[in-house]
Amino acid sequence: MPLITFSSPLHKDITVYAPAGSHKQTVLELAKEHHIPIDFGCGNGECGTCLVKVTRIDPHKPPLANPLTERELKVLKEMGKITQAEIDQMAVGNISSNPWRLACQMVVRDEDLLIEYPSR
Ligand code: FES
Repeated sequence: MPLITFSSPLHKDITVYAPAGSHKQTVLELAKEHHIPIDFGCGNGECGTCLVKVTRIDPHKPPLANPLTERELKVLKEMGKITQAEIDQMAVGNISSNPWRLACQMVVRDEDLLIEYPSR
């Protein structure tokens, strides 16, 4: 089971186990389940309120998280957290090293992560 550490300058760090193999639970859902106060609004990838910074604990393993959704790309671009050049690189199959995600859109997979919030 992956270990997910939620870290915020405003709260104590909390590390939780994510259910193995669910491949459906978002970072925001996991946070809510463990009473971790990540801000959120729409819950649907449209408002950007749930912005988090994601660091993979083992950078030598390939990233497992779901690719950024179309909504995420649009919102992150509007927020200045991703450039069109990075989006173009991802479109041709290159893996992005951009750490910004929307917690309501990122699905937890079998990799250990550090999730930093609030991010702005
Ligand atoms: S809660 Fe609105 S984008 Fe995640």
